[in-house]
Amino acid sequence: MASARKPKPRDAAPIVSEADDPRARSEPIVGESDDRHVRLAELAREIEHHERAYRAGNPEIPDAVFDDLFDEYQALADELGVDDAERLDQRPGSDHVEGFEQVTHAVPMLSLEKLSTARRDSAGNAVPMFEQLNHWLTRRAAELELDRGSLALTAEPKVDGISVSLTYKDGKLTRAVTRGDGRRGDDITRQVLAAGAAPARLTDLPGEVELRGELYWPRSAFERYNAELVASGAAPLMNPRNGCAGLMKRKEPEGIGSAGIRCFMYQLVSQPSKLKLTSQAEVLRFLQARGAPVYLDSVLTSTSVSELVQFCEASGERRAELDYDIDGMVIKIDALNLHERLTGTGHHPHWGIAYKFAPERRATRLRDITVQVGKSGKLTPVAELEPVKLAGTLVSRASLHNFVELARKDVRVGDTVLVEKAGEIIPQVVSVVLEERPEGTAPFPRPERCPRCESEVLAEEIFLYCPNPSCPEQLSERLRFFASRQAMDIDGLGAALVEQVIEKLGVRSPDALFQLRAEQLAQLPRMGKKSAENVIAALERAKGRGLTRVLVGLAIRHVGTTTAEVLASYFHDMNTLLEFAARYVSGDEAAVQLVAPDKGSGVLEGLARRSADVIFSELNSQGVRDVIRGLAQAGVLLSSLEEERREVAELVGKLFVLTGTLPSMTRGEASLLIKRAGGKVSGSVSKKTDYVVAGEEAGSKLTKAQELGLTVLDEAGLRALLGE
Ligand code: IVH
Repeated sequence: MASARKPKPRDAAPIVSEADDPRARSEPIVGESDDRHVRLAELAREIEHHERAYRAGNPEIPDAVFDDLFDEYQALADELGVDDAERLDQRPGSDHVEGFEQVTHAVPMLSLEKLSTARRDSAGNAVPMFEQLNHWLTRRAAELELDRGSLALTAEPKVDGISVSLTYKDGKLTRAVTRGDGRRGDDITRQVLAAGAAPARLTDLPGEVELRGELYWPRSAFERYNAELVASGAAPLMNPRNGCAGLMKRKEPEGIGSAGIRCFMYQLVSQPSKLKLTSQAEVLRFLQARGAPVYLDSVLTSTSVSELVQFCEASGERRAELDYDIDGMVIKIDALNLHERLTGTGHHPHWGIAYKFAPERRATRLRDITVQVGKSGKLTPVAELEPVKLAGTLVSRASLHNFVELARKDVRVGDTVLVEKAGEIIPQVVSVVLEERPEGTAPFPRPERCPRCESEVLAEEIFLYCPNPSCPEQLSERLRFFASRQAMDIDGLGAALVEQVIEKLGVRSPDALFQLRAEQLAQLPRMGKKSAENVIAALERAKGRGLTRVLVGLAIRHVGTTTAEVLASYFHDMNTLLEFAARYVSGDEAAVQLVAPDKGSGVLEGLARRSADVIFSELNSQGVRDVIRGLAQAGVLLSSLEEERREVAELVGKLFVLTGTLPSMTRGEASLLIKRAGGKVSGSVSKKTDYVVAGEEAGSKLTKAQELGLTVLDEAGLRALLGE
């Protein structure tokens, strides 16, 4: 990870990704003038982008920052009354990896709602955790029609790992499955057994029993593993959680037993009443007695909200002493019979809630500020810190985001700064401890020239750019990104090899990578014949990744995976896209209208006008066209692999509202089908609505639709309309 390396900008892993460029999210197209709707759309795009990056194994922001985005999204979506069908938080993501058998969960593996120290009320004041828990409990008591004081709650640690379902038959572990998308997960039985992560046997447990728990990598074992990796010349893993997920998705897991992955268990899914268990606390004791790893000494059962909050706070304070990461506590209604009476949502049950800890913060000295040049030339200031132990790892670099932020925080070399490592990935400088500022410090000057190639910098909004596409640092970032898993996924073409192909083999653009021959690569230091052949084979495989990945790999500003998908699914092939770009740049009215809000068919929905200006002019530039021509000549697939839009004439341009529970699909899925067919989906019923699709327990929206005399369909009606 970046923090473990010597501060040397050229070698350093990028701390801030340009795909996360906030400008890519400004001015989204929404038919609303309300800023809150704009913000909601921004958040949705941001969340989707980071979910993809995370799944691709390239997280760009810490988990806790992601959680904050998600929390803000949820709060705003609640405030705006966004319909479930439209909400991101109503559909779980997926951890599926190709080649793993998928297994349907007998009971869906859902998420938990959160209490968070980051929550603010409408006046911007922090909402105390006590108040948040109280509020949650009051609602649960009302739902159960019980007295609040009679509800005992159990608080237990929330270990930060990956959730797993474990099936034991007559005490023998027979199946381990990941959460997947909540409904279906990947079978990782071989991996869990090879890692010795969960007990292969539990005693005195007849019949078939499904347990749920968390797989995690204890810090000490993780650090040991990383030290071995580094000693063998490999790059260290980012953090225990991602590392654990990676090992559990190894197709050949033999030999991972020494890594030290562990598991702790927290739930008995199969009919606890059959086993005469009536409470969560009893379940935990029952499991422990059978040899299951359970953290009983960190559990409290109580009816007092203040006692529970104090317990959670105290657990948070002690977490640095543990050998594993806990990111909060889980508070559960103790009586299991009540769980069945609480309906919950498709996203989370109502019998439990996560209590998230505030991120850890430490003070340290800022040794230096360096400037990193990103793949499209963006300059990012980076804090070089006196190493400090944070959330279990040593941190020596942190992002300062941009020069406006740097000036706002007035961070100076020599300052003592507070550093936060909210998740386990990218540390942030939160603020300066002004009282400790030494004499003689000066504000950090805004660079006027690129620190690497000396070109005069270009300012665009709050960012500074090196405008020289041949800047060596930009070039290596671009090639590295092109080869990364997020883009063309060229196995074996890592940072070190990228540097060598630039310096020794004269590669100057991504398409030139495909001209490389095994004999050339084999001559490079530390490259054998076999590894050279492997890289050539990986390049060959990468040729078929399709238009979306190529577009991502071109590192065009404002084109992250989401935008690339939108473009690929609309234009299908590069030529059509390039023709469009030329028309757009020349001001062709029809082309511009396709992007402009409230006009055209809105198919480029989500693409902000300002982003579109940059994207299409870059696509139209000679440099990008040359690269694309080179890629085409090398035989790289430049058309879309994604399922095409299947327009259905009756649906094109029609406005749908979805409400209630549909029998065989989620509202999210229905929404996708409608959009794919050319329709639009909105959260609220109005005279403009063409169809209301109503499932079971449809509420006020159905009533309103009936009042307005709108066409109401059930799922079968919708399917018929879709021609299914
Ligand atoms: S109960 C509906 N108990 O946290 C899911 N989960 O945010 C209820 N986790 O997916 C799970 N420790 O992966 C529960 N003591 C604990 C937990 C725990 C960690 C994870 C689990 C779950 C996620 C929910």
